Formats: sequence, structure tokens, C-alpha cells
Amino acid sequence: MRRPIIAGNWKMNMLISNAAEWVDELLVHLPVSDEVDVIVAPPFTALAAVQDRIEKSKILLAGQNIGPEPEGARTGEVSAAMLKDAGCDYVILGHSERRQFFAESDELINRKLNIACDHGLISIICVGESLEERNAGQTHDVVERQLVGGLASVVGGQLDRLVIAYEPVWAIGTGLNASPEQAQDVHRFIRNWINKIFGSEQSAVIRVIYGGSVKPETSAPLMAQQDIDGLLVGGASLKSDSFYDIINSSL
Ligand code: PGA
Repeated sequence: MRRPIIAGNWKMNMLISNAAEWVDELLVHLPVSDEVDVIVAPPFTALAAVQDRIEKSKILLAGQNIGPEPEGARTGEVSAAMLKDAGCDYVILGHSERRQFFAESDELINRKLNIACDHGLISIICVGESLEERNAGQTHDVVERQLVGGLASVVGGQLDRLVIAYEPVWAIGTGLNASPEQAQDVHRFIRNWINKIFGSEQSAVIRVIYGGSVKPETSAPLMAQQDIDGLLVGGASLKSDSFYDIINSSL
């Protein structure tokens, strides 16, 4: 049984005061449930404020990125150990915005993944194709290339430190979302790839979540798909009520 994940990715949004308010509002309604892992990924500056408020709740904390080195002279970077220290259990790696605007390669993402594993963080590794690639029929090839590169050093025993997020680039922040069937097709492809490389036991338990313009109206049909184990939510996670509705529709 794969426990669902509903994760909110705030990206470069939310000041400390907004973040604190968001948590307080969400906690008024959030059911105490072991049925779903609720994760929130605030910007680094709001991690401490969010951690303070979620301490007694079941909400889990994620960072949005880490540097590829464990520590040292890397001005502006935040390390895996620092995220752990701030209370994070998860980190988002390889988001398409980081691939696009910060030229992150699969090789770099793999280095970050190793560092995250070494420091006890669970990595949410994002993969997904552009519209041109989808239209050219290359979706599976692109996703496979990102998995092969991003997970290059991973051995079977580390898969419990991994969540894979399928996020078609054309659906992120655009209001376009993959249909449940389109998403299911790629999720199945990812699970089959895990099966081929790591075996059936691993592919049965790894959680593969979907992201790209998820809203309360679209979340339930996505979650109903066999290989969709959760959602990575950007825009609709910025308001506590729509994020709560998405959590609720997945229970
Ligand atoms: P979106 O972002 O829901 O705003 O499309 C999702 C993501 O980038 O993780």
C-alpha cells in the first residue's frame, strides 16, 4: 500500500507572516490522519516559522533545493545538513524551473540526490517533458533520460529515500493540466522503468506523484489513477483553503 503524498511547493512566494498565517488556517481544518503525507515546501526564509507552527502537527517540511556540496565556500547555497537542521524531511530536486532557469543537468541533480541521501533527506525528483517533446512523441524517451541520469548512482536500498514527481513542463503554472489518462500513462511508464532497473518489490512501493496546474477540481480524478500516488501542487497550494480541498479530495 502506497501512502499518498500531497505536497505544496510555494516556489519564490510567501513572506514569513503569510506563511505563519497559512499554517494556522490549514491546521484549523486538517484532519489528523495517517492516510496521507502532507508536505509543505516554503522558501528557505520561512522554513523556521513554518517548522515552529507545524511541530505538533503531522505536516512535514521540505526544502525546495540544496547545493551539490556538503558544506564550505559556496556563497548563496543551502546545504542538505542545513535543511535537516531546519526540520526538513524532504527536498525537491530537479524541478523544471531549476533545469530551465538555472541550467541544472541530470548529472548535477544526481550529485544533489547523493548528498540528500547522505543527510537523511527524502528527495522528490522531478521529471517531465516540454510541449515540443510531447508533440514529437518523445515523452517516454525524455522521462527515461532524466531518470537514467538523475538516478545514476542510486542502488535499490536507497529507493525508500526517493519520491518521483512527474511534472510535464507544459502543465506547470500554465493552467493546462495533463488529463488523468495522460498522467497515468507516464506514471505507469515510470513504474515499469523502476521495475526494469530495480525489480518488482521496489516498483510496487515507490511513490510517483503528479504535478502541473493541479487544482481542487482536478485532483480527485488524478488521484483515482492506479499509478498516481500523490500530487505536487504549486499555485493552488498558496491558499490554505484550496490546498486543504486538494488534501481532502485525495482522502
Ligand atoms: P503549478 O506548479 O501547480 O503552479 O503548476 C506545480 C509545480 O511546479 O510543482
